[in-house]
Amino acid sequence: MLNFERQVTITMADNRIYNFSAGPSMLPVPVLERCASEMLNYKSSGMSVMEMSHRSKVYDAVIKETEARLRRVLSIPENYKVLFLQGGATTQFAAIPMNLMKTGKADYALTGNFANNAYKEAKKFGDIHVAFSSKEGNFNRVPTQAELDIRPDADYFYICANNTIYGTEWQYDPETPAGVPLVADMSSNILSKPVDISKYGVIYAGAQKNMGPAGVTVVIVREDLLGNYPLEKYPVMLDWKTMAEKDSMYNTPPTYAIYVLGLVLEWVEEQGGVDAMRKLAEKRSSLLYDYLDSQDFYKAVAEKASRSHMNVTFRTGNDELDAKFAKESAAAGMSNLKGHRSVGGMRASIYNAMPVEGVEYLIDFMKKFAEENK
Ligand SMILES: Cc1ncc(COP(=O)(O)O)c(C=O)c1O
Repeated sequence: MLNFERQVTITMADNRIYNFSAGPSMLPVPVLERCASEMLNYKSSGMSVMEMSHRSKVYDAVIKETEARLRRVLSIPENYKVLFLQGGATTQFAAIPMNLMKTGKADYALTGNFANNAYKEAKKFGDIHVAFSSKEGNFNRVPTQAELDIRPDADYFYICANNTIYGTEWQYDPETPAGVPLVADMSSNILSKPVDISKYGVIYAGAQKNMGPAGVTVVIVREDLLGNYPLEKYPVMLDWKTMAEKDSMYNTPPTYAIYVLGLVLEWVEEQGGVDAMRKLAEKRSSLLYDYLDSQDFYKAVAEKASRSHMNVTFRTGNDELDAKFAKESAAAGMSNLKGHRSVGGMRASIYNAMPVEGVEYLIDFMKKFAEENK
């Protein structure tokens, strides 16, 4: 029997709570322990990684090793550049049109809040066509291939691969008309499964879900897409070509966040890579969805075919009960289960670092709560 009344303290590793935050979110404990053990003196350098010059030999090894690991873990082809940038995924909402809009036309699939924010930013740069929108159904699904209306002369087609707030995820790589690069925001599902990078022109992700702490944004871009715009018009910090030519060191990169990303990648490799991450993600999410489908106290929000493996959204249908759930689950040692304000209800974000036991613990709590509040 699980003890839901256990003391919650976050001062010791064995008393950590199950943190279901959508991001920043849980990191693997061994990664945090490595950070702690290397905090004061990294590899006999006599200093913390935080204190190091980004141009030093010791830091150069950190960033190079992180890039090499990312290339290995995601099988990134040689003709793609990997950039470590700042400004969060949101900065890339502007960088994408800036770097890719050769003729001033791009197409977007609107499947949630972040896709919508990216669309609004892109509209400042040119003619944007909505290739699909699930706004009417409050973004409860992603489209099928047949529903996509992509212009053959678009400079790119944009998707948000996992919709963190609504709990939906593209289960396939959409096809685009010949010559139209596919651009994907993978902030909330990168490293959770293998991806055929060659199907994408650009993949990017803020780190603070599956990759590490907030502060670094990874951009993976096919080389031939670089440098197709008039740089003199735009801020250099948004210019992928300059960043690629300078190995992400045009200015000071987010040094510590890149180091932690390297440790997370080492952990992913030790667990068996992205294949193992996918199996775990399927296990965690199917435990939750199978439970949701087996009862009628809670209702799953996302349509079945669009369900995310990373963010599981559900509600009781009663706002007061939802609020009670959030409060009581927190008292039982789980945090951040309250859904985003635009969806309401609950959301369990179950990224790579969430142990399967965390999901089992949540389901036991859900059963108990349903029993007590029927
Ligand atoms: C899918 C997705 N894209 C973009 C963002 C925005 O990221 P940032 O806060 O790093 O700008 C988020 C944040 O949660 C997200 O989940």
